[in-house]
Amino acid sequence: MPVTIRKLHPVFVGEVTGVDLSRPLSREDAAAIEAGMDEHAVLVFPKQDVTDEQQLAFALNFGPREDARGGNVTKAQDARLTTGVNDVSNLGKDGKPLPRDNRTHLFNLGNCLWHSDSSFRPIPAKFSLLSARVVNPKGGDTEFADMRAAYDALDDETKNEINDMICEHSLMTSRGALGFLDYTEEEKQMFKPVLQRLVRTHPAHGRKSLYLSSHAGSIVGMTVPEARVLLRDLNEHATQPKFVYVHKWIVHDLVMWDNRQTMHRVRRYDQSQPRDMRRATVEGDAPTVAQQAAE
Ligand code: OGA
Ligand code: MN
Repeated sequence: MPVTIRKLHPVFVGEVTGVDLSRPLSREDAAAIEAGMDEHAVLVFPKQDVTDEQQLAFALNFGPREDARGGNVTKAQDARLTTGVNDVSNLGKDGKPLPRDNRTHLFNLGNCLWHSDSSFRPIPAKFSLLSARVVNPKGGDTEFADMRAAYDALDDETKNEINDMICEHSLMTSRGALGFLDYTEEEKQMFKPVLQRLVRTHPAHGRKSLYLSSHAGSIVGMTVPEARVLLRDLNEHATQPKFVYVHKWIVHDLVMWDNRQTMHRVRRYDQSQPRDMRRATVEGDAPTVAQQAAE
């Protein structure tokens, strides 16, 4: 059966059938999926019971794996998974939900704020592939917003105003918004702000999109309060229901998104029950701000 994509939302998101992600992909299928990503920005693959190794192998069709270092406060010896996928679960090494006051748990709650993966890195992520291994009984939907449609819907004056703006992104901004404010000196070094364009152009089809993320805390050449008011307005605009798709997870769903043209967040869920989600991340190929290449 050939790869088939059915649209799930008026402006983006497709559901893919006709492919088995536990097996090596043909060149044609990989190309069809990459073209589907460019067009739909989010692809849902139902009924894909994959191992971490199979998930990573599938991701490598679209580029190298992004190194997860520097993206969390979990110490290496406390990591539950050592296979190379990002652990996006609420579980500790013992396989049980982390205590409510656990630092890793509190830090990970940042995923409840709208963001684009790794916008806090000098070269941010290209694709993320999230596999549902255990679905939480209450809540935990993941929402996606189409940042191309959001950009297109801005008036020309706003487009001109923001087209060349550069933002500073840091994990301390998104976590700080939740009141998570204590960092070691090493973490402060690791979470130093990076620069990202506010409007980016997709390398495949040339559509512009808003590059927003809760990691963004300031705009170069602007006062912080002015920048934050503008960023809040843009975030409200970009996450209107008409630009948002809500994914309700079924076990073994795999959802893949393009961080260059979407934002996402997870909704609150029952922290006393497990939610085991694992992410393979494909690294981006260039900074969004040219001068950062030299750093
Ligand atoms: C992520 C993420 C949301 C979720 O994996 O990057 O933000 O639903 N996950 O767990
Ligand atoms: Mn994320």
